[in-house]
Amino acid sequence: MGWIGACLCFVRLHVLALPKHIESTELMSKHFLIVGASAGIGAALLQRLVGAGHRVTHLSREPERAPELPGATGVRWDLQHEPLPSAALAERLDGVAYCPGGIRLKPFPRLKEQDFNEEWELNLLGAVRTLQAVLPALKQSEMASVLLFSTVAVQTGMPFHAAVAAAKGAVEGLTRSLAAELAPKIRVNAIAPTLTDTPLAQRLLGSDDKRRAAAERHPLKRINDADDVARTGAWLLADAPSVTGQIITLDGGLSSCRLF
Ligand SMILES: NC(=O)c1ccc[n+]([C@@H]2O[C@H](COP(=O)([O-])OP(=O)(O)OC[C@H]3O[C@@H](n4cnc5c(N)ncnc54)[C@H](OP(=O)(O)O)[C@@H]3O)[C@@H](O)[C@H]2O)c1
Repeated sequence: MGWIGACLCFVRLHVLALPKHIESTELMSKHFLIVGASAGIGAALLQRLVGAGHRVTHLSREPERAPELPGATGVRWDLQHEPLPSAALAERLDGVAYCPGGIRLKPFPRLKEQDFNEEWELNLLGAVRTLQAVLPALKQSEMASVLLFSTVAVQTGMPFHAAVAAAKGAVEGLTRSLAAELAPKIRVNAIAPTLTDTPLAQRLLGSDDKRRAAAERHPLKRINDADDVARTGAWLLADAPSVTGQIITLDGGLSSCRLF
């Protein structure tokens, strides 16, 4: 054995000798799929996962808007009009996050059936199609994880939210059902954020006055930024082996605290 062989042998012995909880970055690196990483929470999640050394494939209508990062591959997909492109389907995936969603706020009498259908399609059926397409790849992982998005307006009734709350309520049901059905090898969780500073919420946060008023409604006197939510998302996806079937509320205390 030459000196190169001896070095390789030394490195291999050391990797094998690592305690179970301290594995090399190479060994811990996983492959995730994000639907909707070109903006908002999905873009922040992409940065978090790549920053932690993971590989990410992401899909959206304009994947070129996503942060350009080594280890990230963008694939174009309009989920409302096409099947999931085969280019995005790896043989094995360690997790998937489905980020697209809507905030269609209207008084109930003005909501048309089409509004309910569109929220249902984007929030629920898009997630269902994505999960059915990637399930065989998730099953190849030792421990895979699914991350979905709800809203604080499911557990706390809010005016004008009927269409989005109805669809997101279904996402919460899907989360718990699949957590039971896919255990023990696939964990399934959702995050239910309050107002979060992303392109989706711009209409509600378009001026300093609107932002101040929105923050003021929360006991913690703040709204989320995208990374507040992505941090929890990255933890649920990559680093929470005992968490499944949970809806994690990130709402600045809105649903659980009352300030007199
Ligand atoms: N922001 C909030 O205040 C808030 C509050 C409660 C819950 N949430 C939930 O949190 C999740 C993330 O929200 P966000 O604020 O980050 O949303 P966002 O800023 O609108 O970003 C959504 C992402 O989904 C992609 N997308 C949308 N429609 C698509 C389609 N038809 N085909 C493929 N990709 C599509 C978008 O990319 P392209 O445009 O490039 O396709 C974008 O990358 C959503 O489920 C939302 O309902 C958000």
